[in-house]
This record gives sequence, structure tokens and C-alpha cells, in this order.
Amino acid sequence: MTKRTALIAGNWKLHGSTDLVQALTRAAKQAASSVNAEILLCPPAIWIPAVASALQGSSVKVGGQDVSAHEQGAYTGEISAAMLKACGSQYVIVGHSERRRHHGESSELVARKAEAAFAAGLTPIVCVGETLTEREAGQNWLVVESQLNAIRGLLNKTTEIVIGYEPVWAIGTGKTATPEQAQEMHALIRQWLVQQNAQAGHIRIIYGGSVKADNAAALMAQPDVDGGLVGGASLDAEEFIGICRNVG
Ligand code: G3P
Repeated sequence: MTKRTALIAGNWKLHGSTDLVQALTRAAKQAASSVNAEILLCPPAIWIPAVASALQGSSVKVGGQDVSAHEQGAYTGEISAAMLKACGSQYVIVGHSERRRHHGESSELVARKAEAAFAAGLTPIVCVGETLTEREAGQNWLVVESQLNAIRGLLNKTTEIVIGYEPVWAIGTGKTATPEQAQEMHALIRQWLVQQNAQAGHIRIIYGGSVKADNAAALMAQPDVDGGLVGGASLDAEEFIGICRNVG
């Protein structure tokens, strides 16, 4: 079986301050050598240089929360993958459900963003996930599969990607998917990935949705759950490090 190093990514969303940068980078640096996971911090883009500089000399990585599908041009407000990279990022989240919902991002646009990230040397974390209505209608896999179908072209070129499975109903709600629900979807995603590219066994599939220190161990113990994409709990140093320590 392919050995995958767990990835614990903190998605700060629209939160952050110089104090938070200091507190979270200090805690992550201290914890990095003693945890069984790769740690990634994804602050708002404006804080990436400060986070990258505070993390220098440590194994903790920095990533963006979104990226433009364009390389450059008249796209006010956008940030390119090359810019994220130049500021110290190694990863970028694309297709978070909040971007899909509040900014109308389609799976096709998400795929173009993932391609732009790959072209600039960043690892895209492609987020997929169903809403509660879709799950209740038994359509969870259909929805996730159609979101994944958009990145088939990218998978023919590279397996240097991460998939973030984030059921929308579990984000910021305190309702976590059970370890069995997470495993069921991750296994389907894994199967789909390997069908597209035989080398895809090493791709990490991380779970997001109300991950906390006290539920992390059970989630991470699932064979196809390779880490966590953490929102709210990533803003509290103790809680976030607690999650990192609970990776088996
Ligand atoms: O990207 C992380 C995310 O959407 C989960 O957020 O606050 O439920 O951990 P939260």
C-alpha cells in the first residue's frame, strides 16, 4: 500500500492579524518536528509573506486560499499562482465550497485554477463536497464525481495534487462527518483517482468539516483519510496543534 504522509492544513479563511501570524507560526514551528504530519498554513494572501518569513528554517509550509486562473493581465483584485509562489507558497486551495457558493465558481473554473497552480509549480488542493440536500437525496457521490470530472485533464499531466473532501453540511457547523462517512467518500474518491491515473495512489485526500483536536484521531485513523483541512480550529494554536498531534 502507498505510504502517504498526513497533511494538516489550516485554512484561516477571512481571519488574521499580525498577532495571529505570530502566535500560529510559533506554535506550528514548535510542533513540526514532533508530529507525524506535514503542517500547512493557508492565511489570507496578504499575510503570506509574513507567515513565510516567520516559518523560515522550519518544515511548516505556506499556501494560498485561492488563485487566479490567469497568469497576468487586466484582472483587478486577482493574484496569480506565480505571485503566490514568489511569496513563499507551495500549495493553494482551489474550489473551496465558499468560493463556489459566494463567488459562483464552477468546476470548470476550479479546474483552470488548479491547472494555473500546477503550471506555476504549486500543489493545488482541489476541494469537493456535497450539500446536505444533495446527501439526503443520495446524490453525494454523483456531485463529488462531477466536481472531480473537471480535473481529469490535470490528472493526465500530474499526480502532484491534493483532494480536499469537505461536505458542505459539516463546514463551520460543528457537525462532523462520522469517520465511516468520511472513509466511504474518500474510498470512492481514491478509486476514481486511480481509474484516471495508475500513479494516483500517493495522492492525499484530506477531510474538512468541523475537525477538532478531539475528533481528529478517529477521522485520521481511516485508511483513506490522509489529513485534515481545518477552518475554525486552525485559528486556535492549542487546538490546531492538538489536531496535528492526533494524527496516528
Ligand atoms: O477549509 C476548511 C473548512 O471549510 C472547514 O471549516 O471551520 O468546519 O473546520 P471548519
